[in-house]
Amino acid sequence: MALLHPIVLVAFLPIWAFCYWILPYFTTYKHLSHIPGPFVAKFSNLWLALGAQRGQKFAWVHAAHQKYGKVVRVGFNHVSIATAEGLRTVYAHGNGFLKDTYYEAFVSGVPGVFNVRDRDEHTRKRKIIAHAFSPGAVHDFEPHMSANLKRWVTQLDRATVNPGVDGYSRVNIMPWCTFLAFDIIGDLAFGAPFGMVQRGRDECESTRPGEPATYVPGAETLNRRGEVSSTLGLLPALRPWARYLPHPFFYRGLQSVKNLHGIAYAAVTKRLASMDGDKPGKRHDILEMLCRSKDAEGNPMPRDELVSEALTELIAGSDTMASGGIQAQ
Ligand code: HEM
Repeated sequence: MALLHPIVLVAFLPIWAFCYWILPYFTTYKHLSHIPGPFVAKFSNLWLALGAQRGQKFAWVHAAHQKYGKVVRVGFNHVSIATAEGLRTVYAHGNGFLKDTYYEAFVSGVPGVFNVRDRDEHTRKRKIIAHAFSPGAVHDFEPHMSANLKRWVTQLDRATVNPGVDGYSRVNIMPWCTFLAFDIIGDLAFGAPFGMVQRGRDECESTRPGEPATYVPGAETLNRRGEVSSTLGLLPALRPWARYLPHPFFYRGLQSVKNLHGIAYAAVTKRLASMDGDKPGKRHDILEMLCRSKDAEGNPMPRDELVSEALTELIAGSDTMASGGIQAQ
């Protein structure tokens, strides 16, 4: 068809770029034009997305604050504020701000408490989940955490059993902190540790409905999925096409999104299968709390939501705990 003739396409591209990137700067987002920031960031999210793709978004935003001040335009409609009052204003409950469409890139299956954008839905989820984090519930988690810690110390003792000539053993603690964090969160959110500490290896079972189980590296899967979702969250127009992009960052990253969901699906399915009917049993952990909880109408959480919430705990609780462990060394 003559319509897509390369010459037409080449002539059309600058017009499209003008309408898509330049025009909104002078019209829709004119009120932001006085806010300083990197030049490209005034017109598009490409600058921030590149930072996310390199796993450096936080560092780039921090450097931009050092260069431009406390209020920086980091995207065409995105302003970063680094002041104490800004924190209160932006995050205050009932201020009318919704979570950005950015969070939609983090949804796999149905939305969880972290990525749901609807306020009422968030409140409903929070009410259900709050029970799992009450002081009493957290106290009940202690025996599981302590069993995992004991296993960890035993494995570290084994790993350091043969000191070098200087009398010291050397071990890279970073992966071991990750194994511990995954095992603890697996134990609490899914009812059993992933067994990473025992195996001394980053490995989790991942399944999808009707498919055989595969084994994937949990921490690597989590990191890849975080980076690809963070990048695509900033480029929503690219999201539907991302799987066709011939760059490993995208196709491996999107595979990790599926694998991560598969990890949660496999673990929740295993745990529910071991339960007595609908009863989660006597084990006190986050999954048991979620299974027992009911919404305002007395309905329990459906299975797909259970998978998403357990997945949220895995994502929220593994890297954060592992970094805490490393900093504590
Ligand atoms: C030092 C450790 C941790 C840090 C620094 C941290 C930080 C954060 C931050 C900044 C958010 C807000 C994210 C956003 O809305 O964009 C968040 C949300 C959340 N975190 Fe953590 N977190 C930590 C540990 C954990 C652990 C161990 C768990 C669970 C086992 C957890 C569960 C959650 C959940 C469920 C949310 C979503 C809450 C909601 O939207 O209502 N976090 N966390």
